[in-house]
Amino acid sequence: MLSIKITLFLVSGVSSFIIFYMGIVNFLTSVEETTGLIMLIFSIFVATGTLLATVNISRNITQPIEKLTQDMKQFSATNKASKRTPLKTNVSEIFQLNEDFKIMEQRVEKTIELTNDYVEKLKEMDRKKIEFSSMVSHELKTPLVPILGYVQMLQKKNFLGELNEKQSDAVNEIHAATIRLQRLVGDILTTQKLDLGKLDFNKEETNVLELLNSVIKEFQPIAEEKKVILEMNFNEDICIFTDKDRISQVFSNLIKNSIDFVPKSRGIITIGAKDCGDFVEFLVRDNGSGMSIENQKDIFKKFYQIDTSTSRKRSGSGLGLAICKGIVEGLGGKIWVESKVNEQTTFYFTIPKKPIDSSAKNELNNKISN
Ligand SMILES: Nc1ncnc2c1ncn2[C@@H]1O[C@H](COP(=O)(O)OP(=O)(O)OP(=O)(O)O)[C@@H](O)[C@H]1O
Ligand SMILES: [Mg+2]
Repeated sequence: MLSIKITLFLVSGVSSFIIFYMGIVNFLTSVEETTGLIMLIFSIFVATGTLLATVNISRNITQPIEKLTQDMKQFSATNKASKRTPLKTNVSEIFQLNEDFKIMEQRVEKTIELTNDYVEKLKEMDRKKIEFSSMVSHELKTPLVPILGYVQMLQKKNFLGELNEKQSDAVNEIHAATIRLQRLVGDILTTQKLDLGKLDFNKEETNVLELLNSVIKEFQPIAEEKKVILEMNFNEDICIFTDKDRISQVFSNLIKNSIDFVPKSRGIITIGAKDCGDFVEFLVRDNGSGMSIENQKDIFKKFYQIDTSTSRKRSGSGLGLAICKGIVEGLGGKIWVESKVNEQTTFYFTIPKKPIDSSAKNELNNKISN
């Protein structure tokens, strides 16, 4: 693309040359020597004048436009009104353009400042809100300890005396509701810690097979009670450096969901793992109701529950998968779901084998997504 400056000098250079050339031709071919000379001197004046006018136009138009373009580029890169040298020009339109640009620059800078202030205030309000609800959740958690303690004492015949059948049923109801409440408060606290980036991870050398065996052992009684087959698909000797309790929590949330969604007496839940080099890919698969592609997009959001007759019948707050995502990502991995309605659902999550810094984390995440 040609610049105005080059075009200007090309046009005026060629015109000056033609005028000068015509002056010489006139001088050489003219019958009267004086007329030829006058024409030559005249053509030299006109050619020189054209060149001087070009230099003048360049100084007053093209140079200021170039400077203005430079200032605009700088402003769009920094969003800061530049402390620039004043623009020199005698052309009123360019002068006005520069003045308008200065006003626009100041307005944009002010708007950006206001937006940044607003965002900071919103962040601060959000932080205070999380801290407040965290305090409330803690306050709720404290009285639950003696409530649960006394309910458990009431359930044992030899502690506070024997209860009749109705009383015993009522105490069992209180016990179940207290456990649910305790779990909900625990989930809210974990989510808040994840939001504030304050969830601690205690990483240690963990044998994957032992980890999966302990998950099976924990859930086998519940699976048997619900007549669901819980099986494991892994038999390798791999160690990872991670927080095994938090990974068990992820498995626990995923398996609890699967138990709720598999068909009665025909349910099969498989847990497994795969060695993928730098990371291990875990899975929890079930032959349950599955979920549509549309719903798969939102299930990791806090408090999201798919509105089906099954989920309305279930208890739960919609925090389980958000917690899974927070834990997995906090440990440097990724979590995702693949599901087909009325066929099956598989949740996958990856965990790096070794502790990683943030740059290695990005590299690993790229590998995982490929
Ligand atoms: N294995 C699954 N099969 C079908 N739908 C599922 C499965 N797992 C999760 N979902 C859907 O995703 C939603 C969100 O799950 P999530 O575990 O976050 O919440 P929840 O189980 O409803 O409550 P919470 O886990 O907090 O007790 C569920 O309500 C359910 O609709
Ligand atoms: Mg759940």
